[in-house]
Amino acid sequence: MQDLEHFIRGLPKAELHLHIEGSLEPELMFALGQRNKVDIPFKTVEEVRAAYAFSNLQDFLDIYYQGANVLQTEQDFQALANDYFKRLHADGGVHAEIFFDPETHTDRGLPFSVAIEGLLQGMRDAEAEYGITSKLIMCFLRHLDEESSFRTLKAAEPYLDRIAGVGLDSSEKGHPPSKFARVFKAAKSHGLKRVAHAGEEGPPEYVYEALDVLHVDRIDHGNRALEDAALTQRLVREEMTLTVCPLSNLKLCVIHDLKDHPMKRMLDLGMKATCNSDDPAYFGGYVGDNYLRTAEALGLSRAEIVQLAKNSFTGSFLDAAAISKHVMAVDAFAAVNQL
Ligand code: ADE
Ligand code: ZN
Repeated sequence: MQDLEHFIRGLPKAELHLHIEGSLEPELMFALGQRNKVDIPFKTVEEVRAAYAFSNLQDFLDIYYQGANVLQTEQDFQALANDYFKRLHADGGVHAEIFFDPETHTDRGLPFSVAIEGLLQGMRDAEAEYGITSKLIMCFLRHLDEESSFRTLKAAEPYLDRIAGVGLDSSEKGHPPSKFARVFKAAKSHGLKRVAHAGEEGPPEYVYEALDVLHVDRIDHGNRALEDAALTQRLVREEMTLTVCPLSNLKLCVIHDLKDHPMKRMLDLGMKATCNSDDPAYFGGYVGDNYLRTAEALGLSRAEIVQLAKNSFTGSFLDAAAISKHVMAVDAFAAVNQL
């Protein structure tokens, strides 16, 4: 017999919902702030952590965009990615599809190349050091206009062979997916995959729009889809992967207690839910902690935990051979590790 934590951290898994800027730990924020002479409105790491008390998504985003100001050079982005992959490895992660927000950086004067070159180097480092594979998803900030998203897609052109897909994040309410219909269509014509945050704070209608207008391959979050029975049935029928983030939902007051989290309901309904960390430096836990705390709060069975790990591979943008190899590794792990 093995304890739950040991089982979860050993289970091979992929992370499909991770904003790399959201993995900026206060320690690195201070180090980079000092090196780059960027002021941080906090005196100590403890003060920073104490400020991470959010009542909603916007509260968090205001602090998160401010934190990103310390990232100035390719080496900074590489260091950010290095730190993330080290933690992913410790949590049994073998693959990640990471988001980055180019406009957060280009709007403060950094060339598009700085963030992406640093991140790509960090991704190569992870493969060399840990054998972790990864893909990059470029998100458009939905509080900005369509013109900015088109400028971003244009800036990405030299890198399209190294970008797996586009995503949509930032302030959800008041910024429906349909606002980005044309840029997602253009992204599709470039052969890019498409994902969108929908139903985190926004209504089920935004999930419908992500499906019908943006033609997404995955829904990021999707919690509020459960308010609509027909939509829920459709997501099950279409085997749509949901990249669910329990500790994020708790910190951003989407739920008030992990015991109320819909993860178990989603699995019971047959939805392709996955378990992810979103912005782990801000929400108090990386992917392993998300599995562990959710499993404890909801009493998830070993089979349900294994299902989450399998969903993380079947919902990934890896090719069929790699998916099947990873799913077999999950089964092999589960066969020899009893809970
Ligand atoms: N950007 C970073 N984290 C986000 C989240 N949880 N929702 C929307 N945009 C984000
Ligand atoms: Zn997110």
